[in-house]
Amino acid sequence: MAADKEFDRGDEDVTKSAYDKYAEQEDVDPRCIPIKLDGPVPEHDAIEYPDYPAHDHETWSTLYMRQAEQLPGRACEEYLEGMRLLGLTPNRIPVLRDISLTLNEMVGWRVARIPGLLDTNDFFSFMARAHFPSTDYIRQPHEIEYTPAPDCFHDMFGHMPTLTNPFFSKFFQYFAQTFLRVSDPLDIRRLERFYWFTVEFGLINTSIGPRIYGAGILSSPKEVLHSLSGEVEVIDFHPERLGAQEYEVWHLQPLLFAIESFEQLESEFRAWARLKGWDS
Ligand SMILES: [Fe+2]
Repeated sequence: MAADKEFDRGDEDVTKSAYDKYAEQEDVDPRCIPIKLDGPVPEHDAIEYPDYPAHDHETWSTLYMRQAEQLPGRACEEYLEGMRLLGLTPNRIPVLRDISLTLNEMVGWRVARIPGLLDTNDFFSFMARAHFPSTDYIRQPHEIEYTPAPDCFHDMFGHMPTLTNPFFSKFFQYFAQTFLRVSDPLDIRRLERFYWFTVEFGLINTSIGPRIYGAGILSSPKEVLHSLSGEVEVIDFHPERLGAQEYEVWHLQPLLFAIESFEQLESEFRAWARLKGWDS
């Protein structure tokens, strides 16, 4: 396809994602090595609330207060509304079971409690059946500034509010179902890049300028400020272009993409999947 030629840079080992390559390095943080699940995990109203030590709630509170201060005028309205709907507060680490019940009532999604970074297929298998796989542990106090590993601040604060938007949650489920159908390594890389530049690092245009909806930005103090600074090149959403854009996992993002609406995200992803033959 002409579009493939235009955007496909063909300059890398397409059999490995950025995370795969990271996991092969020496001295890798074991929390960054994906886990293959060997059995069921607690879901929805079967998720128990851990007996967190006081310093875990303090970590949540510190992270929450610092991020929440930055978000007005930067995060998109759909995300801010989602925070209100889920009742997230700085007081204590939220209860996953309660979030699951609210999401289920609003958009038919539920939460599954997972032990850490999941194998990609396990990860998307949850989302393909409208379950958001979330950790329930939080980073250590010395990791307030940065952690390379997943934790519940990223999962709950970063991802869950946007899931309350029906267009976004429909897109997310369809994306996961599509991902599980695709087997060509180059197509898998395309979808991973698409995921990165939407779910994790997406911007949305509004009448008063671009706003953030990506969880990777919303849960990172540096990315929140950086993403809307003049240092970042913001490009209009174009699925094929996103699918060809390589990204940096461990550095601030130099380039981001802005959708016009969550309706557009859902409908254009579906159209792209049809065009690529990934819909059957
Ligand atoms: Fe994430």
